[in-house]
Amino acid sequence: MEQRIFEVLRKLIYEKSGITLGDNKVALVTARVGKRLRALKLETHEAYLEVLQKDESGDELVSLLDAISTNVTSFFREADHFEFVGKVFSEWVESGQQRFRFWSAACSSGEEPYSLAMKLLETADIRQLDVKILGTDISTKVLAHCLQGVYDEARLETVPRQLLAKYFEKQGDLWKVRPQLQNMTVFRRLNLSVPPFPMKGPLDMVFCRNVMIYFDKEVRSRLISEIYRLLKPGGFLLVGHAESLTGLDTGFKPVRPSVYVKK
Ligand SMILES: C[S@@+](CC[C@H](N)C(=O)[O-])C[C@H]1O[C@@H](n2cnc3c(N)ncnc32)[C@H](O)[C@@H]1O
Repeated sequence: MEQRIFEVLRKLIYEKSGITLGDNKVALVTARVGKRLRALKLETHEAYLEVLQKDESGDELVSLLDAISTNVTSFFREADHFEFVGKVFSEWVESGQQRFRFWSAACSSGEEPYSLAMKLLETADIRQLDVKILGTDISTKVLAHCLQGVYDEARLETVPRQLLAKYFEKQGDLWKVRPQLQNMTVFRRLNLSVPPFPMKGPLDMVFCRNVMIYFDKEVRSRLISEIYRLLKPGGFLLVGHAESLTGLDTGFKPVRPSVYVKK
């Protein structure tokens, strides 16, 4: 891909998603945009830029962002976070709290919010409680996967076998999440780079993991302030193990590596 085209795409992607693409990402962008060229049966990057610029519906931009974003995830990824959730949730339930709002920001194909749902169900009898998990992502492709809730064996490797039998239903070679998990979750498209977000707080806990790595300091800072605003005092923010809030001016206090509390 010509540098000039890369620059146009890089600027557009940053403006529309907050994703920063470094100079070393030309090969990645070329490969991912290549998929869009093939899908649209276009020959040149020039032609693709023209389609993007003329597309008033914004659909091609969504497809480009789908192609660019990295959706790697897994069930019970960074397992100690789920242990932490279990501990805190049982304390909250014991204290008499009845309403719980969790948010998986950048939920990818749903492994994170569904792992969270399983952990909550395994921790307490939630039948008398009002528990909701919101999953959001910028990618329409992954959100469709969340709603479908269907996974193959390879993706389910990190789900303990007794949880698999309890919370998933076999459909041929695949497994579908049971209604119990689907009823606890809601999925919406949301761009984390453009706060304020439309959801109602206060939230009890926010998972914002393995997405801030794609953002520069300015976008990260806006995002973290907004999460702070939406959390209840005493609510928690969990970031990826490779991420931290170091260098950002926030009211969050660290509880342990990659876990923060709103004081
Ligand atoms: C690597 S996945 C992380 C998934 C999950 N949180 C985890 O830790 O396993 C990153 C996700 O961030 C999403 N993403 C990237 N930019 C975004 C933005 N501006 N707003 C919302 N989601 C975004 C991508 O579509 C992708 O699904």
